[in-house]
Amino acid sequence: MQVALTGATGFLGLRLVGELLERHHSLTVLAHARSGGALRRITRFMELTDVPGQLIAELPRRLRVVEIDLGQPRMGLSAAAFQQLADELDMIWHSAGNINLDDDLVRLRQVNVEGTRNVLELAAAGVRNPMVHHIGTAFVGGARRDGVLYEDELDDAYGFENGYEQSKYEAEVLVHEWSRAHGRPVVVMRPSILVTDLPPHPELPGHPMQFVDQIVQNSLRSVGLAGMAIPEEYRPVVRMLGHPHGHLNLVPVEHAAAVMVQLASAPPSGQANTYHVVHDHDVPIRVVTALLERLVPVQVKLVETKPDDPTPLEAAAELYPGFAPYLSHRRHLDDTRVRTLLGPVSSGIRVDLDYLTTGVISKQTTASSAGAH
Ligand SMILES: NC(=O)c1ccc[n+]([C@@H]2O[C@H](COP(=O)([O-])OP(=O)(O)OC[C@H]3O[C@@H](n4cnc5c(N)ncnc54)[C@H](OP(=O)(O)O)[C@@H]3O)[C@@H](O)[C@H]2O)c1
Repeated sequence: MQVALTGATGFLGLRLVGELLERHHSLTVLAHARSGGALRRITRFMELTDVPGQLIAELPRRLRVVEIDLGQPRMGLSAAAFQQLADELDMIWHSAGNINLDDDLVRLRQVNVEGTRNVLELAAAGVRNPMVHHIGTAFVGGARRDGVLYEDELDDAYGFENGYEQSKYEAEVLVHEWSRAHGRPVVVMRPSILVTDLPPHPELPGHPMQFVDQIVQNSLRSVGLAGMAIPEEYRPVVRMLGHPHGHLNLVPVEHAAAVMVQLASAPPSGQANTYHVVHDHDVPIRVVTALLERLVPVQVKLVETKPDDPTPLEAAAELYPGFAPYLSHRRHLDDTRVRTLLGPVSSGIRVDLDYLTTGVISKQTTASSAGAH
């Protein structure tokens, strides 16, 4: 069985590499040519996460790196190299993407939509009809903020919170169309927000909640408050739009990767099967705002309408609109299909303020804000 994976150097992809190598002898890593160093980065991740030395030593033999650029026709490969690669594969995992919520829609489409189109072309060209596993997102549900989102829904009626959601929606539409047109099965895995309690490390890719840390630190810097130890009672109040009973699903990335690989071992149905890969409990928005308060010396106050007299700090926070709407989300992601197939899928991990803090706050940040607690 010849398996290929895009996005192997990413936050999720690094965990998929480990899971896939438990089931398959070798893996073709379709690595981002512009970034380089894929084997070194994967090896470093495994060293930092205490993977057994024997597996690390085997990596050069078990991983084959093919450098590609997803946004280019034929992934930037020559016609002959593209066809040869396609003909060798039995299974393609597509995890690469641009996950920058605030990026320009044109750039997001280049990787997320055109990249998916190119992966599907690779799958269509292969003589062995490789099975496609597409990593989507539960956020194709778009700007619908309440109710229940089911796994068979794919609808743009509510619009999108940001260009990232829209590009991932368009990519998933392509996947379903391709499956119908070619009469080929596809598995679409839609994770919620991926998190970890592995502390941030400069050599490891970050995750969305860490980006929130960077956003608030930048905001503080822009108003001259970065790194200040401010006593609790003097912390400035930051009013943020949000729902007091809002909640988000945050799934540990290690658990998500394990569930995805289990789902992939189910017999294909002949069509596109879509799964919500989620955690067994949601996290109240209050926990997310408490995390913000641990990151920066402010008091977050959730408000129902946007203040018309924003303070400089509130104005600076608005410079990052991609994430802000999620403070108003209170929808539930149904994962009946996953539970029907795999049974109860609890990770046993409680994603709470301490879990998130461990995975988000670097030692440096903890030291600078410790005096304020
Ligand atoms: N993170 C989440 O919370 C989350 C939630 C739901 C769904 N997802 C989905 O899960 C997938 C993986 O996300 P992630 O968190 O692992 O993202 P990530 O850490 O940003 O990793 C993105 C990966 O895509 C590769 N890549 C980017 N542009 C490329 C290009 N032009 N050609 C080839 N490879 C390219 C990157 O390679 P280099 O690093 O080498 O450049 C990296 O390996 C994405 O499809 C994302 O939409 C993520």
